[in-house]
Amino acid sequence: MDVELRGITKRFGSVTANRDVDLKVTSGEVLGLLGENGAGKSTLMNVLCGLYSADEGEILIDGKPVAFAGPGEAIAAGIGMVHQHFMLIPVFTVAENVVLGVEPTGRFDHLDLRRAREQVRAINDDYGLEVDPDALVENLPVGIQQRVEIIKVLFRSADVVIFDEPTAVLTPQEVEDFFNIVKGLRDDGKAIVFITHKLNEILEIADRISVLRAGEIVGGGEVGELNAAELAELMVGRPVSFDVKKTPFDPGEVLLEVEDLTVLRDNDDLAVDRIDLTVRRGEIVGIAGVQGNGQSPLIEALTGLRRVAGGTVRFKGRDITHASARDRHKMGFAHIPEDRQRTGLIPAFTIAENMVLDSYYEDRFSAGPNMRWSAVNAAAAQAAADFDVRTKSVFNTVATLSGGNQQKVIVARELSRDTEFLIAAQPTRGLDIGSIEYIHSRIVEAREEGDGVLIVSSELDEIMALSDRILVMFKGRIVAEYDGASAEKGVVGLAMAGAAA
Ligand SMILES: Nc1ncnc2c1ncn2[C@@H]1O[C@H](COP(=O)(O)OP(=O)(O)OP(=O)(O)O)[C@@H](O)[C@H]1O
Ligand SMILES: [Mg+2]
Repeated sequence: MDVELRGITKRFGSVTANRDVDLKVTSGEVLGLLGENGAGKSTLMNVLCGLYSADEGEILIDGKPVAFAGPGEAIAAGIGMVHQHFMLIPVFTVAENVVLGVEPTGRFDHLDLRRAREQVRAINDDYGLEVDPDALVENLPVGIQQRVEIIKVLFRSADVVIFDEPTAVLTPQEVEDFFNIVKGLRDDGKAIVFITHKLNEILEIADRISVLRAGEIVGGGEVGELNAAELAELMVGRPVSFDVKKTPFDPGEVLLEVEDLTVLRDNDDLAVDRIDLTVRRGEIVGIAGVQGNGQSPLIEALTGLRRVAGGTVRFKGRDITHASARDRHKMGFAHIPEDRQRTGLIPAFTIAENMVLDSYYEDRFSAGPNMRWSAVNAAAAQAAADFDVRTKSVFNTVATLSGGNQQKVIVARELSRDTEFLIAAQPTRGLDIGSIEYIHSRIVEAREEGDGVLIVSSELDEIMALSDRILVMFKGRIVAEYDGASAEKGVVGLAMAGAAA
């Protein structure tokens, strides 16, 4: 099945998210869709999958115009989408999630879960997905949850499958498996749209590429006609540097000192196993590791969000092992959390409100029981401008921002304050290459001003580019340490896989 968008324009109030867009994807090919944060990729695909209706333009399937009154009609026409933020119900099983809305019924109209399970198994077999139909979704790792989303789409017999930043949340191993699934779908004759910010991925998986900028198609072509640097420039509108510029390493006094730290997970499993760690002024320490090796509980413990089970944490010589998150904030901690939707932002609040989420009580923003709104709004507008948050006004809710621009709000909030110590988890997840370049330069700037910086990232390239010292975390322990300037990527990668344990 071939599907074509012709002259699509989509507006939200005064924002034109898509302008006169033409796009075609045919059976048996992967179309890579690129564009910076807020370029209109998700919006365009939401039009294609019937979630939004376009203000102008038309959709054609095999050359015939169609109109979708909602996602149900698009699905019936064979178009399915795996969204940027998953839409599964955590307390339901895989099979229950898959059939949600199109439940197969048996005699007397009863839900026929047995049949649902069989169909899930059949799709599993066809594409080598290996998902247990009876597992509860909340117990599944993200990579498997994504497969549930894929099964959902295939269960509805989709011929066109849209993936919106599917690899943003996956580990390198999961990405490899995922690519094999995509290749299987393509060989099976599906038409696939693939959105990502990672150029190496697009060059590996796509047959053809289209680039959106500010809502319009600005270029594209067959894979092979374009290299990474050309694609980057098409997306951002200027050349992008992939190198991070830093002054030579000149560390100062010890800021953070972690000794014998033990942290447990919610279920009392050991997450962090007697770790020692120091971070100095003017130093960026990067923690590399495959997700799930204790990095998140470590960060939670260091920021006061998780109880410490043993050991001590000192900051400038003072014992802060049991200090609250707010106390640490007052001492000059900044924290970029890994899950922006859950802990970083309140989507229904305005951008301005989100900018002061953890500092609203400070004198500059409040006078007794009253907020100084003019000060809040001015600071928010400045931070949004500095960090290039793409929005018409800081009075819009965060929910109306594109995924990458939501991330920029957090980074702007955390780096706009006077801080001494920055803890950043996956600081550039979901960001376009232009924004990554900028955020990296701001992190380096914090270091140059004498902050200590601790970064956790599953992007090894990010750790390699930023760190003065690299620690590798494996199964709750620090298993290797490297000098940032001389470390070799292959060696660090092996340690991440447990070779040094
Ligand atoms: N529901 C909405 N209400 C108002 N504006 C919106 C809404 N959804 C998207 N927008 C705006 O439309 C523009 C395009 O957003 P979109 O989410 O399509 O970008 P994107 O290319 O997917 O970006 P990202 O890479 O960050 O996910 C942005 O300016 C965004 O703020
Ligand atoms: Mg998007």
